[in-house]
Amino acid sequence: MARSKITIVGAGNVGATCAHWCAAAELGDIVLVDIPATGDMPKGKALDLLQSSPIVGFDACIVGTTEYGPTSNSDVVVITAGIPRKPGMSRDDLLSTNARIVSSVAEQVKATSPNAVIIVVSNPLDAMVQRVWQVSGFPAHRVMGQAGVLDTARYRTFLAMELGVSVEDVSALLMGGHGDTMVPMPSCTSVGGIPVSRLLGADRLAAIVDRARNGGAEIVNLLKTGSAYYAPAAATAQMVEAIVRDKRRLIPCAAYCDREYGVGGYYVGVPVILGARGVEKVVELELDARESADFRKSVDAVRALVQTMNQLVDPS
Ligand code: NAI
Ligand code: 2OP
Repeated sequence: MARSKITIVGAGNVGATCAHWCAAAELGDIVLVDIPATGDMPKGKALDLLQSSPIVGFDACIVGTTEYGPTSNSDVVVITAGIPRKPGMSRDDLLSTNARIVSSVAEQVKATSPNAVIIVVSNPLDAMVQRVWQVSGFPAHRVMGQAGVLDTARYRTFLAMELGVSVEDVSALLMGGHGDTMVPMPSCTSVGGIPVSRLLGADRLAAIVDRARNGGAEIVNLLKTGSAYYAPAAATAQMVEAIVRDKRRLIPCAAYCDREYGVGGYYVGVPVILGARGVEKVVELELDARESADFRKSVDAVRALVQTMNQLVDPS
């Protein structure tokens, strides 16, 4: 069987680490793309990673490039290109700069890999994935964003720490945008099949949800020089695996929702079935009153972010 071709645009912390996880799991051949100001960084990282293959024991062709030719006809394209927010930079500065970066990447992907499934990772996530969908013109099911797998993994990690159990036994779901308004779903959280409400008091659960919600900022405050990348990259690799192996994983992704959950045409974190075609299905749950109110608030925040981006990128 032919190997899948996976392109990762942005060979920085998240992109290179995602390549590492994908290679180690033998998910396919990998092309790393970046446009460093000087040097040949993507080629260097690709060669270094390739040279780990005899030690780790994986077969994959891994190349680095500053051009899109070698990426042609990729099955999956992961977009991590962007800049992090720097001191003195407003949220809108980041929004417009990264929107322009992902727009140029989406144009290239459209021209070179017209049948790919695209996973967007660049921040602000919910707006960037909407932008990539707009510019690529791909069907919505072939464009999605990574946030929910990471946010849910943080929540599961903190629950396992609190209860002193294996992370493998914690099953959970968070919905909504990637950021302050993400929506915890205690009704969809269980530990070894036991509803979490039977194991933890509401106050402790609320504190854990809050820590997950601020999980990205907690890492930034510790690192001081950038943001999280091991878990974000692992989360992205899990989505790549679901697609290239057609696993039909039921996991949270930023997926296009129109009538679904009454969102009205925006990308937002919802449970989906992820397989070879991309988002095979958005899974619609009946939300209780609190979940529904929190979800609406989160969608409002995503809509405002996208509208600001549209104004900044195309003021006409
Ligand atoms: P990084 O700065 O280490 O890497 C970004 C890379 O993008 C750099 O190597 C840069 O040269 C490259 N780049 C910039 N413009 C490009 C272009 N036009 N074409 C190709 N490459 C280009 O940043 P890091 O830590 O890898 O984060 C990447 C993005 O992912 C950021 O926007 C970050 O906020 C976001 N992120 C999102 C997460 C999520 O859960 N959705 C989690 C973690 C990070
Ligand atoms: C995170 O949640 C920065 O979005 C990134 O770690």
